[in-house]
Amino acid sequence: MSDLSLTILPETADDALALERLHERTFGPGRYAKTAYRIREGAGHRPELSFTARIGTLLVGSVQLTPIRIGETPALLLGPLTIEPPFRERGIGQALIERAVAEARAKGHRLIVLVGDEPYYAKAGFKRIPKGRASMPGPVDPARLLVAELAAGAFENVSGPIRPDWDRA
Ligand SMILES: CC(C)(COP(=O)(O)OP(=O)(O)OC[C@H]1O[C@@H](n2cnc3c(N)ncnc32)[C@H](O)[C@@H]1OP(=O)(O)O)[C@@H](O)C(=O)NCCC(=O)NCCS
Repeated sequence: MSDLSLTILPETADDALALERLHERTFGPGRYAKTAYRIREGAGHRPELSFTARIGTLLVGSVQLTPIRIGETPALLLGPLTIEPPFRERGIGQALIERAVAEARAKGHRLIVLVGDEPYYAKAGFKRIPKGRASMPGPVDPARLLVAELAAGAFENVSGPIRPDWDRA
């Protein structure tokens, strides 16, 4: 392996500035108005469940997971997922999702929710949440509200409002 191979590492405090810049470049100031952003801001993401992608030492991508509840059921919110434009379409986004999902499962988490394009996230096992089963605290296209079960049947009988999980913040 050369020094320029892809590495995926848990996020550290030292990544904060580079990640802030990446999110600013990708999503702009409009990100603050997004419903998912407001949830993430509430509880704060969990660095040990969030990952950076590097080519050599260059940070080229990131995914973050935040503790939430759906009704009373603990879950995680995935996002943002961001890849630097020159490094897109090389599988880095999927690799970050797979690593985050695997780590969450290994730590005993059972559900991950996200707001995103179903055709992209379906590859990692995400499915549309049936309309009305779960609601975000702000406007979200229901076709983009997705869930992945990390354990068989984990989403059965789960419903309710999605909110930050302050107890696990
Ligand atoms: C979306 C994003 C994370 C994808 O990252 P990536 O590293 O380029 O993705 P991958 O290389 O793992 O996957 C590429 C594949 O997904 C497909 N794809 C990319 N975006 C897609 C989308 N929105 N819907 C459906 N398919 C998509 C590509 O066509 C490609 O398909 P192929 O493998 O058949 O050629 C990246 O484009 C990005 O950072 N976009 C801006 C931020 C954003 O929109 N984040 C997601 C918020 S929900």
